[in-house]
Amino acid sequence: MNYLIIDGLIRPNGNTERLMQEHISTLGVSSSFHTRFVLRSSYIAHCNGCNACSGDKNCIIDDDFNKLLNLAKNADYIILATPVIFGGTSAYVQNALSRFQCLFNGDYKKLPFLTNSDYNKHSKTLGKLKAGIAIITAGGSSGSFESAEKTCNIFLKMLGVIRPERLTDYNTDK
Ligand SMILES: Cc1cc2nc3c(=O)[nH]c(=O)nc-3n(C[C@H](O)[C@H](O)[C@H](O)COP(=O)(O)O)c2cc1C
Repeated sequence: MNYLIIDGLIRPNGNTERLMQEHISTLGVSSSFHTRFVLRSSYIAHCNGCNACSGDKNCIIDDDFNKLLNLAKNADYIILATPVIFGGTSAYVQNALSRFQCLFNGDYKKLPFLTNSDYNKHSKTLGKLKAGIAIITAGGSSGSFESAEKTCNIFLKMLGVIRPERLTDYNTDK
């Protein structure tokens, strides 16, 4: 199994890191089996809406986004971790997600509601189906996750995770 951790944290060693590490321990995965892609240490520009990808699925911006896609393609299990920031995900997650427009144009435009078999037939970009989980912490109450969870689900589904799971911790600021 290839495990990919997409680290959308705003800082290391905080609440989200703790929850993420707890989950990794539960999975029993040694560090040699997982790759951690740290969004805040990567250079990923936001989508500028140039629409160059509308004809084919290659984004013309040459940056670390392609590394992320390649890692995601080869992953069997994806962990996406973020704190709740002003009701949503971290800006790092939202920023990277904007670049998935090239996947949307390439794979999803004509088939927005893919079944598993449709997915296998049509998703040339993302390869195999995979499992995955959104790990989210919030300073506020249990009702604070709604938007962040939706965004994480879109993020994970775009990478081929059919039924994203969720692990949350809240009231972290109390
Ligand atoms: C700029 C900023 C905005 C935040 N906005 C929210 C929010 O809207 N709702 C909420 O429940 N918590 C909010 N929080 C609290 C964080 O979600 C919470 O402390 C989280 O556990 C931080 O994770 P970390 O320790 O991994 O950085 C915010 C924190 C920061 C720094």
